[in-house]
Formats: sequence, structure tokens, C-alpha cells
Amino acid sequence: MISLYQTRYIYPNGSVVALDGMSVEIGRGEIVGVMGQNGSGKTTFTKLLNGLLKPNSGRVIVNGHDTSHYSVQALAPHVGYVFQNPNHQLFANTVAEELAFGPRNIGLTPQEVVERVSEAADFFELGAIMQLHPYRISFPMRKLVGIASIFTMRPQVFILDEPTTGQDHKTSTVINRLILRLSERGNTVICVSHDMPLIAHVTNRALVMWDGKLIADASPREIFSDKPTMQRAHLTPPQITQLSMRMPARSDRLVALSIAELVASVQSDSSATPGLLG
Ligand SMILES: Nc1ncnc2c1ncn2[C@@H]1O[C@H](COP(=O)(O)OP(=O)(O)OP(=O)(O)O)[C@@H](O)[C@H]1O
Ligand SMILES: [Mg+2]
Repeated sequence: MISLYQTRYIYPNGSVVALDGMSVEIGRGEIVGVMGQNGSGKTTFTKLLNGLLKPNSGRVIVNGHDTSHYSVQALAPHVGYVFQNPNHQLFANTVAEELAFGPRNIGLTPQEVVERVSEAADFFELGAIMQLHPYRISFPMRKLVGIASIFTMRPQVFILDEPTTGQDHKTSTVINRLILRLSERGNTVICVSHDMPLIAHVTNRALVMWDGKLIADASPREIFSDKPTMQRAHLTPPQITQLSMRMPARSDRLVALSIAELVASVQSDSSATPGLLG
């Protein structure tokens, strides 16, 4: 599905190696979190996947297409890229127009465009705002519109850059639901995020970037328990995970990713400290 082989990228005006020989394979239906401190190469990695950037050396293959040989537009049906800031993505006069643009642009029939727009409006619960200008709606809703406008193109790979930044509880829940549903449909979702609970709850696999390099590739549970990697990348596990890591060690104990897991772990532990959850 996605393969990077020794991919290296330096910005034309840049002095640092933004991506320094990254190799990784990502399959269909995987939900992959990408973590790392500012400037570690996360966005560069995702822009190489949608063809916005072309590698200086090495290769990037997406859905069988070597991105060096295809334009961003040609790759659009394969890779959907949702910008971190919806203000950089939205440009139409109404939400309805915004949603229709992508499917129309990839050459679908008017009937298909209507169907795609209506499906997205339902899924993201945008019915009440379809005729509004995107700048007249709240930031969280604008972000959902940004995601919905990519959803309408049904790309095989979905890239979300910081999807939950600036989101409220309701829209974050919609985004979590979306990510899981896309994966069930066989889509691959790549989610760049500083939101550790999001990584813990929705991803199956997490990549850790540091200084343009991929320094860890494992389940979120393994990564969060890997103190040297977390420290090197300046990452902090979710609070629940931190709490569970302070519990007395037991050979069969996994670090918890959710409150439910922590409770189960405490309940099964006759030597648990009384009042730990209180
Ligand atoms: N347009 C650009 N021109 C020159 N250098 C750039 C450009 N964009 C990014 N860089 C540099 O490339 C490196 C990787 O940046 P990148 O944006 O991929 O990091 P990031 O992990 O996405 O960071 P953040 O968490 O801040 O979004 C950094 O050293 C950055 O300064
Ligand atoms: Mg970035």
C-alpha cells in the first residue's frame, strides 16, 4: 500500500535534512499514528506521501504509484491530505460547494457528486450549515468540513495532520469515529498528532520521528512503555498510561491505554494499593 525506501528530503532553501533516509511499509486498513517533537519531520513525511514533495533520493510508492512520476492531482484519488489548519484548505463560498469541489474535480457525474456530498453531510452532521460560508462557522466545525471535503473523494489513504487540535469534545468524537470507520472500510489512516489519548485510543501502530529519522515503529502500548524512546522524542504518555506504569510490576500486567483497562488491571490485582483510583 505505502512503501518508503531510504527516502531523503531537504527543502530547497533548507539547511537541515528534513527526512533522513526513512524506510517504512504501511498496509491496507492500518491506523498509524505519527509522533515526534516540532521539526522532527512528521509533516515532511506526509507531504511526500501525497506527492506535494518529491524525494531527493530513495522512493515513495503509494497504491502502486511511484510519487516521483505523478502530480499531486493525479495522486488525489489515492491519497487524501487534510491540512492541519482548515483555513489553508477551504476556499468555496458555501460548505455545500466545498464538499462538491473534490468529487467534481476528479470527474464524477453530477449524480455521484450529489450522493457523495449528501453522504458526507450525514456522516459529519453538517446538514444545518450546508449553505453557510465556511468562515461563518466555528473553528471545530470548519475543521470537520475540511475533513469531509476530502472524505467525499474516498481516497484509499487518508492523512490527517493534527486532526484534534482546536477541537471540542463533540467534534473530537466524530473524528475518532471517522478514523475507525475508515479503517473498517479498508482505508489506511495516517494521523500526525501530539494528542496522546487519540494515539492510544484509535491507532494500532505508532511511528516516532526524531531529527528526520524514524526511531520507533510499534504498537502505542509498546511505545508508551519504552521510556528511552519517549524521552529522546520528548513525548509524554497519556495520564492513564503514566498512572498504570506506577502500579506494582506484575509479569502479566500490560500498561493501560484507557480508564477501562486500568480498572480491569486494578481489579485483577489482589495486591493493588487500596484507593489507587479514588
Ligand atoms: N518550507 C520549509 N523550508 C525549509 N525548511 C523547512 C520547511 N518546512 C519544514 N522545514 C524544516 O524541515 C524539518 C522538518 O519539518 P516538519 O515540518 O516536517 O516537522 P514536523 O515534525 O511536522 O513539525 P511540527 O510538529 O512543528 O509540525 C524542520 O527542521 C523544519 O525546520
Ligand atoms: Mg508538522
